[in-house]
Amino acid sequence: MQSIESKILYNDMLAEGYFRLGLEWKTPRVKAGHFVMLRVSDGMDPLLRRPFGVYKVIGAKGSASKGTGIELLYRVVGRGTSILSAKRPGEVLGILGPLGNGFPSPRKGLKVVMVTGGMGIVPLYMLASQTGGILLFGARTKKERFLLDGFKGPGLKVKTATEDGSMGTKGLVTALLEKELAAGVVVYACGPLGMLKAVSRMCSDAGVRCFVSLERSMACGIGVCLGCAVRSVNHDGKENRNYKMVCSDGPVFDGEDIDWELL
Ligand SMILES: Cc1cc2nc3c(=O)[nH]c(=O)nc-3n(C[C@H](O)[C@H](O)[C@H](O)COP(=O)(O)OP(=O)(O)OC[C@H]3O[C@@H](n4cnc5c(N)ncnc54)[C@H](O)[C@@H]3O)c2cc1C
Ligand code: FES
Repeated sequence: MQSIESKILYNDMLAEGYFRLGLEWKTPRVKAGHFVMLRVSDGMDPLLRRPFGVYKVIGAKGSASKGTGIELLYRVVGRGTSILSAKRPGEVLGILGPLGNGFPSPRKGLKVVMVTGGMGIVPLYMLASQTGGILLFGARTKKERFLLDGFKGPGLKVKTATEDGSMGTKGLVTALLEKELAAGVVVYACGPLGMLKAVSRMCSDAGVRCFVSLERSMACGIGVCLGCAVRSVNHDGKENRNYKMVCSDGPVFDGEDIDWELL
C-alpha cells in the first residue's frame, strides 16, 4: 500500500453525473477488485477519504504493475463526489492504495460468469479483460449502456437486462444468472446489496461458488476504525460472533461466508 499525491490526467464526464478520472501513478501494482481511498479536498470538507474501485491501469502492457496511472469511474451522489467532479487536469489528489484483497483468480477449467448492477461494473473490468467469460450486466435503462464501452476479454460474451426493458431482457439481472448456473461455473458479482444477496443465495442453492465484492461506508479503508464491519458466518456451527472488515478482509468475500440476514 502506498500513500501518494497524484496528478489528475483527466476527469471527463461520460454522461450526466458519471465521470472517468485518470490519475498519474507510476507502477501501481493493482489487481482486479482492488480499491483506493481518495482525498477529494485539501480542507476539512469532507474530512474523510472516499473509496473507489480501480477500473483499469493506464498504459499497462502485459503486467498491470508496469502502468503509468489508474482510471476510476464514479457517479456523483453527494458532497465528496460533487467536489471531485469539479477537479481539473493538473490538480493533485491524495491516494491511499491499492487496498483490499481483490478477486481470486478462477480455478483452471471453470467458466467465469460475472454479474453486475450499475457502478458494480467497475471492479469487473480488469477481471473480464483477463478471464473473459460471460458478463451479465444489469441496469435501470439503456442510458447506462455507456458503462459497457471498452469492455473486452478473451471470448467475452455480454448479456444485458434492464428494469424498463429498453435494452436486453426486461427485468432483473438475476433472471439472466438463473440460466447460467451449472456445474463448472464460478460467479463473480458486484452491485447493489439486494442483487448481491440474491446472487449469493442462488449460487448457494445451485452449489456454485460465488465471490461478491461488497460496498460499505468507509472511514479509514485500512482496518482501523471498524466502521465497515459485516457479520460473517461460522461454518463450524458455533454461536460465537465473527466480524470481517470489508476494507481489509474484503471487499471480495465468498458469498457463503457473509451473514446476509444482518446486512
Ligand atoms: C470498496 C468500494 C468501492 C467503491 N467503488 C466505487 C466506484 O468505483 N465508483 C463509484 O461511483 N462509487 C464507488 N463506491 C461508492 C463511493 O465510495 C461513494 O459513492 C462515495 O464515497 C460517496 O461519497 P460522497 O461524499 O459523494 O457521498 P456522501 O455525501 O458521503 O453520501 C451521499 C449518499 O450516498 C450514499 N453512499 C455513500 N457511500 C456509499 C456506498 N459505499 N454505497 C452506497 N451508497 C453510498 C450515502 O448513504 C448518501 O445517501 C465504492 C465504495 C466502496 C466501499
Ligand atoms: S473503513 Fe475503517 S475498518 Fe474498514
